Amino acid sequence: MKTSDRYSWTQISLHWLIAVLVIFELFFNEVIESLWRSQRASQFALKPFNIEFWMNPHSAIGALILLLTLWRIWLRFASGAPAAPANEPVIFQWAAKLAHILFYLVLIAMPISGTIQLATGLPIAHQLHELGKPVLMLLIIVHVAAVLVHQFAWKNNIFNRMIGRA
Ligand code: HEM
Ligand code: HEM
Repeated sequence: MKTSDRYSWTQISLHWLIAVLVIFELFFNEVIESLWRSQRASQFALKPFNIEFWMNPHSAIGALILLLTLWRIWLRFASGAPAAPANEPVIFQWAAKLAHILFYLVLIAMPISGTIQLATGLPIAHQLHELGKPVLMLLIIVHVAAVLVHQFAWKNNIFNRMIGRA
């Protein structure tokens, strides 16, 4: 994978914007929950061309996350990312790669499974969407813990490079 000297401002902005939107999706989903419940109770499925399908914060922000994530992945291939810090043990370098790939996969799978669930009520899409919640939370906890280890145990600059200071 291509390496670069630093993350671009676009990559940095996308990282933090997506982080905020993902936290919103994880913790504020009452509106979509009640939409989903009323839909199930009345045995009808909203179609993606219904305005209500997208005119609720959860669907709209979820779709935005998908677009921003695809943009971010494209940038990752086009401009690359800085190499792992030299003092990071190789096994952790691989673990970080794996965690980042998983992040991208989950951020694609969640909006797609959510859309299919809302449009068709397919149980597999519902199960996948529900499974995404603990997976994403676990990834975030491990991710933040890893940043803290980098910062305070290995004392390298990875946090600085995600705020544009390195
Ligand atoms: C909550 C949702 C979050 C998501 C989905 C997320 C996702 C990611 C991903 C996918 C990368 C890899 C970037 C690349 O492609 O090279 C990354 C890097 C990074 N993230 Fe996050 N992140 C989140 C939250 C946070 C938070 C809260 C912090 C602060 C503690 C943080 C700090 C960093 C840092 C410092 C890097 C750079 C790692 C490096 O340079 O190797 N992230 N993040
Ligand atoms: C990255 C984007 C997304 C994330 C992180 C996300 C996350 C979540 C979470 C955490 C829940 C609550 C599940 C629970 O409490 O068990 C939920 C529910 C739901 N989401 Fe999403 N979602 C995303 C995108 C979407 C999109 C784009 C749609 C549809 C257009 C959607 C449709 C739904 C529906 C219908 C529910 C309620 C039914 C249920 O309990 O599973 N989601 N979502």
